[in-house]
Amino acid sequence: MIARARAAGYRVLVVTVDIPGPTRRRRDIQSGLSVPPRFGARAVMQILSCPRWALGMARRGVPVFENLAPYFPKGSLADAADFLGQMMVGHIGPARLSRIRAAWQGPLIVKGVLHPDEAAEALALGADGVVISNHGGRQLDAAPAAPEMLPAVRDRLGDGALVLADGGVRSGLDVARMIARGADAVLIGRPFLHAAAAHPKGPAHLAAVLRAELETTMIQLGAKRLADLRGTIWRG
Ligand SMILES: Cc1cc2nc3c(=O)[nH]c(=O)nc-3n(C[C@H](O)[C@H](O)[C@H](O)COP(=O)(O)O)c2cc1C
Repeated sequence: MIARARAAGYRVLVVTVDIPGPTRRRRDIQSGLSVPPRFGARAVMQILSCPRWALGMARRGVPVFENLAPYFPKGSLADAADFLGQMMVGHIGPARLSRIRAAWQGPLIVKGVLHPDEAAEALALGADGVVISNHGGRQLDAAPAAPEMLPAVRDRLGDGALVLADGGVRSGLDVARMIARGADAVLIGRPFLHAAAAHPKGPAHLAAVLRAELETTMIQLGAKRLADLRGTIWRG
């Protein structure tokens, strides 16, 4: 996979270390999310309540994991889900991270770190940066949120280290909060998925809204550069 990423022209490798195995996601179970999907009365009602989305799905077909498709076993979606579970083969500890570091010459980012010691260890093993993340709150309900851990991580790593963060960023103000707590930049997951599901231009619109909100936040706080946000706000 690393060789393929290099051949495809990727410049930065992000290695996720916080998903050693599949988890039981109670909310997904309770809300009836399953692979393959079950089309009960509730799901059908929800589909009917989103006619534009439903028509788009009918026209374009159900999305597939194009990059994984060649590796999936031929068969049902359930087989594909089992296959994904089998690919999660435990923690990525120092030994495996070192092997990955040796195999990839470009910038390497370690994603899914929360504890300052773990962040320091990733850098000591040769990573160029870390993503402070609890995997969008999807893996371990007891895990702290990134903004709770950011100040201690920044203290430990110092000003020069590349520290990214994600989880729950929903506005430009949330971006500012992460940066205020010690991040250099944020990553955003679900809002872009929802925006893309709503409209092809949704992600670009979302980016413009987030940018405008971040700018007004910076103006309010008198911050000329992102770095000026450090230590300014923290309100949950
Ligand atoms: C549907 C879904 C699939 C995800 N799959 C992965 C994945 O394969 N690898 C990974 O590192 N993170 C994965 N994540 C976590 C995101 O990379 C990210 O950490 C998280 O979504 C950030 O939180 P946010 O969605 O609140 O912005 C996934 C998140 C979602 C919602």
